[in-house]
Amino acid sequence: MRRPQDTLVRELLKLCGRPEVISFAGGLPASEGFAVEAMRRAADEVLSQMPVRALQYSYTEGDPILRQAIADFETSRGTPTSADEVMIVTGSQQAIDLIARSFIDAGSRVLVENPTYMGALQTFRNASPEFVPLPHDEEGLNPAAIDSSFAGARFAYVMPTYANPTGMTLSEERRIALCQKARELDLWLVEDDPYGELWYDKPAPKSLRHWAPERTLRLGTLSKTLAPGLRIGYVCGPKEALNVLSLLKQTCDLHTSTFAQLTAARVFTSGALEEHLPQVRALYKRQAQAMLEALEAHMPEGIAWTRVEGGMFLWMTLPETVNTTALFKRAIDAGVAFVPGQAFYAAGDDTHHMRLSFATVPVDKIRTGVERLAGLLRAAL
Ligand SMILES: Cc1ncc(COP(=O)(O)O)c(C=O)c1O
Repeated sequence: MRRPQDTLVRELLKLCGRPEVISFAGGLPASEGFAVEAMRRAADEVLSQMPVRALQYSYTEGDPILRQAIADFETSRGTPTSADEVMIVTGSQQAIDLIARSFIDAGSRVLVENPTYMGALQTFRNASPEFVPLPHDEEGLNPAAIDSSFAGARFAYVMPTYANPTGMTLSEERRIALCQKARELDLWLVEDDPYGELWYDKPAPKSLRHWAPERTLRLGTLSKTLAPGLRIGYVCGPKEALNVLSLLKQTCDLHTSTFAQLTAARVFTSGALEEHLPQVRALYKRQAQAMLEALEAHMPEGIAWTRVEGGMFLWMTLPETVNTTALFKRAIDAGVAFVPGQAFYAAGDDTHHMRLSFATVPVDKIRTGVERLAGLLRAAL
């Protein structure tokens, strides 16, 4: 904890709270997407029908009812999964932490996409790894360019679906190629997939775990489909690996809230989740479309962005002469905010990107915010 922490972006983001600022810098899911009614009913049933089970201490690896519900859910998405291949965690962030502690020694190599999720980089950094960026091209992670120099790394942390921060999705062909490479080089894959259910028009390709179940730890969460305050995430993977994570979890928090687990399980098993998901997808699709249309209409030449097909974020690429960290304060003065891309890099000094989130901004404000941003960028160019 004595190591210097990168606080620049955190300091900048504090400025987003000003009321006149339209903020595309948020990372929170839309609260309109919370399944409030379904959870109220589920909580009521749990407390009426199994109060002791819901309120007593429980198993570290998770309540069997929820493990089975998640196993059935994963199976329904195309990857046969049994309950003992599922471990419940206190948000998928806890899984990232448990994996960091159990896999990384100081100086060991960890393969990451560059850019990637800031929260994972921060967590991995606690264990002092050496980050090695995975090769990328314009279609995202490029497995063909992974050679034997990557062998011996502890794992590759990848987000193949509607990634945070880029919004990109890896094609099925590349997923299969990545899994083949992992097998050749004997690498573990950590597949972080918080956004996979938030597709707009068609479901995402099958998970990495589908293609390499013996070496993939797949992280899922209910944070974006039900509510983040539940703090329920899960890891699917080989039993032996889950046993290790479970021993470690026991010393962290004994187990994830039993009441929250059983409430969530009821939302799954009653069918309320599958009923709720189309509303969440429609919400994000509407807001993503509003942002894509506004960008098309207002952005000056020379600026590119991801044509997102799901999730909460898109990634904007500016000419290299524009430094988005330096631009941030001027953006706040112009009444709009984004996350400077610099925050998401494990290695290198890339400063000409930004992440825009449309998740919590109403459609009319999305339009106004994009107009403000376009004006600012036109001036900067
Ligand atoms: C890529 C990614 N992984 C993990 C998390 C952590 O989610 P949770 O701990 O709520 O499951 C987030 C949260 O935004 C995320 O974006």
